[in-house]
Amino acid sequence: MGDLTGRTAVVTGSSRGIGRSIAHRLAADGALVAVHSGTDTTGLDETVASIRKAGGRAFPVVAQLGVPDDAATLVSALHAGLEQHGDRSELDILVNNAGVLATMPPEMVTPAEFDRVMAINAKAPFFIVQHALPMLARGGRIINISTGLTRFANPQEIAHAMAKAALEMITLHLARHLGPRGITVNTVAPGVVDNGDPFLQAPELRRMLGGLSAFDRIGEPDDIADIVAFLAATDGRWITGAWIDATGGTLLGAGI
Ligand SMILES: NC(=O)c1ccc[n+]([C@@H]2O[C@H](COP(=O)([O-])OP(=O)(O)OC[C@H]3O[C@@H](n4cnc5c(N)ncnc54)[C@H](OP(=O)(O)O)[C@@H]3O)[C@@H](O)[C@H]2O)c1
Repeated sequence: MGDLTGRTAVVTGSSRGIGRSIAHRLAADGALVAVHSGTDTTGLDETVASIRKAGGRAFPVVAQLGVPDDAATLVSALHAGLEQHGDRSELDILVNNAGVLATMPPEMVTPAEFDRVMAINAKAPFFIVQHALPMLARGGRIINISTGLTRFANPQEIAHAMAKAALEMITLHLARHLGPRGITVNTVAPGVVDNGDPFLQAPELRRMLGGLSAFDRIGEPDDIADIVAFLAATDGRWITGAWIDATGGTLLGAGI
């Protein structure tokens, strides 16, 4: 029996990468987890299957974000899934993890690309929270996965970082708004994490990016999932409105 036994959770973008690890960890702690993705249905099915194989409880939710009615579609599929697979249709833990990069020089960012990144990384999470509010249980948790790039300059990711900065405002303002319901709202901000992308496997690049962290390595998805699990558990009840540095010390700088 884990700390989350009897609880329900949804992790957006959990077909792979960090989201998959978060879904695994919350399920291992006892939660019934809605595993979500937009188009990666293979990864979605693999995540659900591996959680079940490990003795956990999970079901899939497919909803593309960044398109009209995205949040309504996701939350209604989530509600239906909880009714079908759960003992109750209340939601205890909402992890806004799905996100996209927009790697290009600031001079190259087009209005259409800017809108796309904002729609997926900031607008969708806000409206997912709004639609989920009626089903969020007292004592619930909202955890927004942002990025160290709201504190550490990388001009190639300016649009992504601007969208994540907007996501972080959900934490600040809704932590105050939802406090009376005992709901905590926090941001977890990872640094570079090996999400399985082939790009990140090149040894020289790994050494360079790993060197940004005080621990001289790239983060692993479980490094982030463990932090999320703490916030989601009973032990995290007194933390709200926080920005949790999950960069492995990247923001400490290089030192001298
Ligand atoms: N990896 C890092 O180094 C790093 C660093 C800092 C912050 N982060 C943040 O951590 C989160 C997870 O990152 P990751 O590296 O694990 O990502 P990832 O491996 O690329 O996985 C992204 C997940 O989000 C889903 N997703 C993306 N766009 C979507 C859309 N439009 N509609 C529905 N689902 C969508 C993907 O599913 P589909 O393919 O089906 O769309 C996938 O499940 C992101 O918010 C990212 O910004 C990551």
